[in-house]
Amino acid sequence: MKALILSGGKGTRLRPLTHTMAKQLVPVANKPVLHFVMDQIVNAGIKDIAVIISPETGEQIKQSLGTGERWQADITYIPQDTPGGLAHAVKIARPFLQDDNFLMFLGDNLIQGGVNHVIEQFNNEKPEAVILLKEVANPQSFGVAVVDGNMQVINLVEKPKDPPSNLALVGIYLFTPLIHRAIDSIKPSWRGELEITDAIQELLNMKHRVLARKITGWWLDTGKKDDMLEANRVVLDEYATCNPAGTVDDRSTIAGRVQIDAGSSIIDSTIRGPVVIGKNCVIENSFIGPFTAISDNTVLKNSNVEHSVILENCQIIDIPRLEDSLIGSGTRVMKNNNNQKILRLFVGDDAEVIL
Ligand code: G1P
Repeated sequence: MKALILSGGKGTRLRPLTHTMAKQLVPVANKPVLHFVMDQIVNAGIKDIAVIISPETGEQIKQSLGTGERWQADITYIPQDTPGGLAHAVKIARPFLQDDNFLMFLGDNLIQGGVNHVIEQFNNEKPEAVILLKEVANPQSFGVAVVDGNMQVINLVEKPKDPPSNLALVGIYLFTPLIHRAIDSIKPSWRGELEITDAIQELLNMKHRVLARKITGWWLDTGKKDDMLEANRVVLDEYATCNPAGTVDDRSTIAGRVQIDAGSSIIDSTIRGPVVIGKNCVIENSFIGPFTAISDNTVLKNSNVEHSVILENCQIIDIPRLEDSLIGSGTRVMKNNNNQKILRLFVGDDAEVIL
């Protein structure tokens, strides 16, 4: 079996972060989402992996994953010049996929527990496709499926105004090569894209068997700010370990699972996990509360931070309380000590400031 990771797109819902960074590389618990995706694929025993990239962010994705050596996998990059949809991505990957079965994984999706079970089901039951479904409160934002009592898919629709069920399609799919025939028979949707949902519906129209599997654990679709914070919370909760590799002075208190990478110093501060702190950070006279991830080379002084993601090279100085925040790299957040009523902002495009 091969794997196809879709890692193109513009990430408009995560602006301003995605002005400079591919949405699949935004870190969760200090690790790019795409690296978790690679871990899950390789864990399922798949080593032959193609990654679809866009002209805007392709180079960054290539730099981040390299040849796949870190995962002992073999990565082939496939450029998608126009955002033609998920089924279009499969179409251009056909020379790589050939007549093999494949796992398709959207590079900004993650599920609890990985994909081993779904691959097992696909191999044992031999349908033409397996899709993953999750009950959601807002099915109109996703592909939606209707299933029978045996979890056979009856029909599917992409982003319906009037959803026929509350079962959203998770961005992880298994296909036999028959999907290529289905893709050849579909037309672009109203948003001008070749939808994978329509191609799976086409398999059903051709009277082939498509199975669904409902997931009960977490599913992260890291496309938006609140989703990112939630992803950070869930992943820290599950994966954070107690690993204080940096230096902690004797006036500081570390409680719970706190990871502090090499070269970072904690001075006169309290850190309550789960928390991850990257390399070469300085945390001084500060409090860091649960579910916070701080990337490399960031400085925090005289500040309190909780439930936030702060990327690399930031300075947070004299801030009494920062919560539920997602702060892009190189940002400085400081208090104006002279006049409490004046705000001095130097804020990039598409930012959000809540005071
Ligand atoms: C895509 C699929 C949709 C699926 C979603 C999961 O939507 O078209 O069926 O539910 O991924 O993340 P998009 O992210 O392109 O809006």
